[in-house]
Amino acid sequence: MTILLTGGNGKTSSRLAPLLKQEGFQVLVASRSGAVRDGIKSCRFDWLDESTYANPFEAASDISALYIVAPRTMDMLTPTKGFIDYALKKGVKRFVLLSASSVQCGDPAHGKIHEYIKSLNVEYGVLRPTWFMQNFSEAQHLTPIRDEGKLYSATNNGRIPFVSTEDIACVAKHLLTDEKPHNTDYVVLGPELLSYDDVAKIMSGILKKPVEHVKLSGEELSQWFQDQGVPSELAGFLSELDVKIGSARAEERLNTAIKDVTGKEAVTFQAFAEANKNVWV
Ligand SMILES: NC(=O)c1ccc[n+]([C@@H]2O[C@H](COP(=O)([O-])OP(=O)(O)OC[C@H]3O[C@@H](n4cnc5c(N)ncnc54)[C@H](OP(=O)(O)O)[C@@H]3O)[C@@H](O)[C@H]2O)c1
Repeated sequence: MTILLTGGNGKTSSRLAPLLKQEGFQVLVASRSGAVRDGIKSCRFDWLDESTYANPFEAASDISALYIVAPRTMDMLTPTKGFIDYALKKGVKRFVLLSASSVQCGDPAHGKIHEYIKSLNVEYGVLRPTWFMQNFSEAQHLTPIRDEGKLYSATNNGRIPFVSTEDIACVAKHLLTDEKPHNTDYVVLGPELLSYDDVAKIMSGILKKPVEHVKLSGEELSQWFQDQGVPSELAGFLSELDVKIGSARAEERLNTAIKDVTGKEAVTFQAFAEANKNVWV
């Protein structure tokens, strides 16, 4: 049986694929480029292009489980529903969705996919992680830390239990492969609450150079995202999430989901930053 991973070159699927392969599972990775990485079987797939929906099933006729990393659109349900329905017809039995900590079942964006999968009465699992540590090493914070010694946010002094995508991948592996389906959602949180000031302090210590947290307003952060090519509606949405972290302490909680599902302790920010320090020099 093959497990199909969408979001193939992204921060979770790129870790999940080797993890599954190492444990003897057949894996097929789907991405828009269809690029093959590290000997892992890949195919070309685009959520927004129905003509690519058959590609994964032509590459592997025995797909039994699907890992869903939705496209970055405000309406996520329309494109994902089309492929979920197609996959069901092709015999896929288990659906695991990567959602987000702030999104409950039925909420806009990922929440609508969550609600849809639940309504199908299939085997399922939903991961609702908080903000990824890898945003600092592979996404929006990488260049400002490396080139300017700066971290931009609108979170003010709000704290976040940053989580490693290594841990998210471990939880996803269980949801995809455990014999008994989990049929529930997990809020996936890292081991400690840190503000961006705390992160800047840790980074300064590891990099042996000052890293400053620049506290922006929501409007300023939205503009900062747009300057990097993020569409204005999405930039506004992401900035609002940041503002709520400061004003409503929206991410200030801890839990034991990673330990409960995987049996392992969650990676700390200090360990993550030390392991990745070469990307910021
Ligand atoms: N980043 C965070 O801190 C965070 C926190 C909580 C939840 N999440 C959620 O986690 C998910 C992943 O977020 P991320 O921003 O970190 O991205 P990511 O997983 O690093 O990358 C997303 C991947 O999706 C693929 N993709 C994008 N559009 C596609 C399309 N139309 N068809 C097929 N594949 C497509 C891209 O691969 P190709 O370019 O190769 O196609 C890319 O590798 C999102 O749903 C996000 O809301 C993220």
